[in-house]
Amino acid sequence: MLRGEKVLLRPVKREDLQRQWVFNNDIEFELLGGGDPPEPQALERLEAEFDENVRKGGRDGTNFAIEADGKYIGGCGLFHFDEIAHTCEMGIGIGDRAYWGHGYGRDAVRVLLDYAFCQRNLHKVWLRVNGDNERAIRSYRACGFVEEGRLRQHVWSNGKYVDFVYMGVVRDEWAAAQTS
Ligand SMILES: CC(C)(COP(=O)(O)OP(=O)(O)OC[C@H]1O[C@@H](n2cnc3c(N)ncnc32)[C@H](O)[C@@H]1OP(=O)(O)O)[C@@H](O)C(=O)NCCC(=O)NCCS
Repeated sequence: MLRGEKVLLRPVKREDLQRQWVFNNDIEFELLGGGDPPEPQALERLEAEFDENVRKGGRDGTNFAIEADGKYIGGCGLFHFDEIAHTCEMGIGIGDRAYWGHGYGRDAVRVLLDYAFCQRNLHKVWLRVNGDNERAIRSYRACGFVEEGRLRQHVWSNGKYVDFVYMGVVRDEWAAAQTS
């Protein structure tokens, strides 16, 4: 549906769930993703949730599967829309480790930002990331995100406290980078 240089952002298919289930039970991937402490997840729960969403009908909202080389490698999306301020949060997780650190993340984020600003008419996209996730922070910086705030020692992750970093990119900055 949305094409980058390396990735395709498309709807999640039921056949993606097997790989998504493997990713969701990879403790390193779960820790990098932040949020609640990792918990196991049964494939049947993922399938039931998917089927329930399909049963409701409508569209898939702003959640995308990330596909590269014909494979499902992870997901990304926009959420927490503020209809007044025209802002939203962005999230991404590439679960296939073979695709870490090779520019697939920044390609997906660039496509998502293009969608956010051009199709959804947003003013700003922001995100949250654990301060020790250097790879993610560098990837986000390459897409124009800047650090906007840092809650020190705010997250308990894997036996230690880490900072919680807020990053954002506003439309004007993004637009200027498109022409430079
Ligand atoms: C975060 C994520 C989307 C980034 O995508 P990616 O394709 O791996 O990253 P990119 O290739 O675009 O950029 C990686 C950057 O980190 C650097 N990097 C690569 N491996 C690294 C490592 N192990 N430690 C620190 N930096 C690393 C690269 O050199 C590059 O920085 P540079 O452009 O300044 O040289 C992806 O790694 C991912 O989903 N990881 C697992 C889950 C996760 O962290 N989710 C984010 C939650 S906020």
